[in-house]
Amino acid sequence: MSVSFNDAPVLLTDEQMRQFVVNGYVMVEPSVPDGLHETIRRKLTTVLEAGSNPGNNVLPRVPEMRHIVNSPEVRGALISVLGEGYIEHPHRYCHHLTPVTQPDPEPGVKLAANCHQDSYTPLGRPRQHYSRFARIMYYPQDTPIELGPTHAIPGTQFHKSLTNEDRAQAIPMPGKAGTVSLTHFDIGHAAGVNLLNKPRDMVKFIYVRASEPTAPSWDCQSLQWRKPAAIETPYNLELVWSHMWDWLCGKRDRYDSFRNSGVQSTQSRLSQYIADLGTDRDLADRLKAIYDLAGLRSDAAEAIPALTSILDNDHQAARVAAIYTLGAIGKPAIAPLIERLKTAGHREDAHPVPEPWNEGAISMEDAGHALTAIGPAAVPALTEVLASPSEWVRINASFALGELDSHAASAVSRLTVLLGDDSHRVVRTTTDALGSIRQGAPTFIPHISRSLLEDRADWNEEERRGWTTQDQVRTNAAMAFTRLGKDAAGAEEILLHALDDPCGHVGAFAMDALRRIDSPTARQAVMAYLEAQRWDESITADRQF
Ligand SMILES: [Fe+2]
Repeated sequence: MSVSFNDAPVLLTDEQMRQFVVNGYVMVEPSVPDGLHETIRRKLTTVLEAGSNPGNNVLPRVPEMRHIVNSPEVRGALISVLGEGYIEHPHRYCHHLTPVTQPDPEPGVKLAANCHQDSYTPLGRPRQHYSRFARIMYYPQDTPIELGPTHAIPGTQFHKSLTNEDRAQAIPMPGKAGTVSLTHFDIGHAAGVNLLNKPRDMVKFIYVRASEPTAPSWDCQSLQWRKPAAIETPYNLELVWSHMWDWLCGKRDRYDSFRNSGVQSTQSRLSQYIADLGTDRDLADRLKAIYDLAGLRSDAAEAIPALTSILDNDHQAARVAAIYTLGAIGKPAIAPLIERLKTAGHREDAHPVPEPWNEGAISMEDAGHALTAIGPAAVPALTEVLASPSEWVRINASFALGELDSHAASAVSRLTVLLGDDSHRVVRTTTDALGSIRQGAPTFIPHISRSLLEDRADWNEEERRGWTTQDQVRTNAAMAFTRLGKDAAGAEEILLHALDDPCGHVGAFAMDALRRIDSPTARQAVMAYLEAQRWDESITADRQF
């Protein structure tokens, strides 16, 4: 069988998108013949039994899986959450779950221990609130609860880390053969516990947004945020959800739905709202007070010290709500948030590497997220601190500007300077930010091209799992060009060179960037590259021709 790209993608509905925004995942069923899943399961078993896990090569080893990820339903779901032109990331993995053996911890204990947020590959990237990275998980066999389906922890896509409270809320995502879940990349999740006498396979694929939303990319009937019927999160974060929704709708004002929601805040109750933020109060009441303060917009400026004290370390729901309330307060919050970033810079400069910088995934300062939420008004102040002597401040300011997409166009020339920074952490974050902003590409393309060619001895030490920081610098550079599409035409020669990069991620993104440039020479090079890599799976030790 084959999937025709002429089959229209089945886009998500408003209700499915609302669920994705709130819960962090949706389930879809690809319309492929049932027999395809059994073929995939059988071939996966053969591959896994023959030797080590094929890792990123699982798709070329079982290429029938392309019919799953290219099915109208999966394509439609990916377009809905990541926009047209989404990018297939080269990282993939088959998670092979064997039955539990005795003695074993009680399944609930084991499940809680399994809960995690994924690392990025090859090395770390910032966790993001907006829908820029997504994960597909596919079961080739019927996967009832007893076979250990993946569990999701709804709403944790905004969390800096998972708490025991989060771990207790993991819910199973069972399904028949062919079931696909689509999740926000940063959502907490866990392998289930396999209590049956057979293995469970789940194949993971990663996808990346190429460009900022300019209009809804799903089957949208209403631009105004509404709660979904099925809310699986324990706390009301409607301000956060509506902000994410408005960004996905491509609205220039990411608080548009909130402004139209009719929230009833009372200026005379300001001091009461601030008092209700206290950690001695019930969390639901605190969240209500945070929400009420957002309704006062800049008139809630007096609450800024209390709200900033909630950032980073408070209950996860409170800190996320506080971020977006500071965003709603707007201009009066800019200077205090910049000061908070500077304080964080002083703290982290005392360490050889900023402590939050983890080569699995990086949690940025909540102040940076709040400055992004404020919007264009925060761009000048963020641009100014790009010149900070503190590495951690430069990283966070660069990240926050990238999260503003084209709103941060005026920062491009200052960001371009940071592509020559001595810190690979700054260079990596800035490369990603410029790929999100996408404006002024001719300014920064020569500098990102240099990142793709440069071989710096001090970046060649292995960081993690056999990868060097140089690998990640070049991966980010190649991915930025992929996101630029035809605007990356000026980098065609360098991308041709990058096809032979020793890091497979770089070659994969370079190939995709060339495909999107779509010049006759780029097309020819991509076809030649793919033809040379074509694998003849009918070859065996006994039949080599
Ligand atoms: Fe995972």
